[in-house]
Amino acid sequence: MIQLSIIIPTYNECANLPLITEKLQQILAGHSHEIIIVDDNSEDGTWQLAREMSLKHHNIHLIRRIHRKGLTSAVIEGFLMGKGKYLAVVDADMQHDLRLLPKMLEHMPHYDIVIGSRYLEQKSIPGWNRWRLWGSRLATQLACYFLKKEVTDPLSGFFMLKQEIIHQIAPNLYSEGFKILLDILLKQPDAKIKELHYEFGQRIHGTSKLDTKVVFDFIDLLISQTFFARFNLQFIQYGIIGASGVAIHFAVLYLLYVKWGWHYALSLVFAIETALISNYVWNNQWTFAKQRFLKSEWWKGLIRYNTACSLGSLYNLAIGWYLVSQGHSWWLASILGIWVGISWNYHANKAFTWKQ
Ligand code: GDD
Ligand code: MN
Repeated sequence: MIQLSIIIPTYNECANLPLITEKLQQILAGHSHEIIIVDDNSEDGTWQLAREMSLKHHNIHLIRRIHRKGLTSAVIEGFLMGKGKYLAVVDADMQHDLRLLPKMLEHMPHYDIVIGSRYLEQKSIPGWNRWRLWGSRLATQLACYFLKKEVTDPLSGFFMLKQEIIHQIAPNLYSEGFKILLDILLKQPDAKIKELHYEFGQRIHGTSKLDTKVVFDFIDLLISQTFFARFNLQFIQYGIIGASGVAIHFAVLYLLYVKWGWHYALSLVFAIETALISNYVWNNQWTFAKQRFLKSEWWKGLIRYNTACSLGSLYNLAIGWYLVSQGHSWWLASILGIWVGISWNYHANKAFTWKQ
């Protein structure tokens, strides 16, 4: 039996891949191991390179995923394929100190999960600004609150665990986001845990894939772990953003129509469009993050979103304008307009803008 399967999730890590695989082979020379690269069809040639490696080395394997993206689901799929007695995950960018792996292996027989922790022996990470540190610490504290136990780095992307655990809990793990370790710890509350310290390094090549997604990911965890557990997360996200859109709508309308005395219909057009753009930005980042638009696609998405919302917006405008012209109050008119607009838009966007 193979002792250890190491999963490397990759997305555009072409320059790092040769470095990390070589280092791993070197460090694990004395242990039977396999390396499983899970690549989400990177555009930079990562999967081609991984495939060449897998043809050359009997212990390197590639899972090339098409039409699917996401760190957590990539890690789960790698874990499920692993033949090792123990499974580990590492970033491709060498930020994790790979020399910890043999030490983790030494502890494995006595524990269920061994975590590479960035915070066991130090509180801060060199090169991180105050915000990033503060955010990471807050997230860690919240995570410990849900876990009801002290773990210094429950969001670590560097850990090892017994293979049986994964097969037992895999069907219940979230496939979204970056908090896979936390999710495993939540689903396996009695697991015996050991933490080992390492110094979180700098990325060697390329850029981090975790931007604001990490923050939203955490909000999702809060929602799903607390009172909203029984509702559809996506609908709640859409609703929260919709509510912020309504607030923006009214703020703009108030400013233009009441404060500056613009024509009602013109003020309404601006209010609707401002709210629409704001909703697009946040829905793209959060509600529909899995299918989100990036870079040049972003503008295409905005146009699509506007198109999908155009009929709803027209209803919104027509109803508001009509009611005001009939002598009703501006805000009541707007509420009714928004009401009709919202229900149209949700279905139109689901079917059209962010269709799977
Ligand atoms: N297959 C696949 N699909 N791999 C991905 C994806 C994806 O959608 N997104 C990121 N990865 C890979 C990257 O290529 C890299 O090897 C690894 O996952 C981690 O991504 P980074 O972009 O380097 O993350 P980070 O260094 O900013 O974040 C670190 O801290 C997080 C928590 O604070 C990592 O250690 C994360 O694993 C950790 O959750
Ligand atoms: Mn990284």
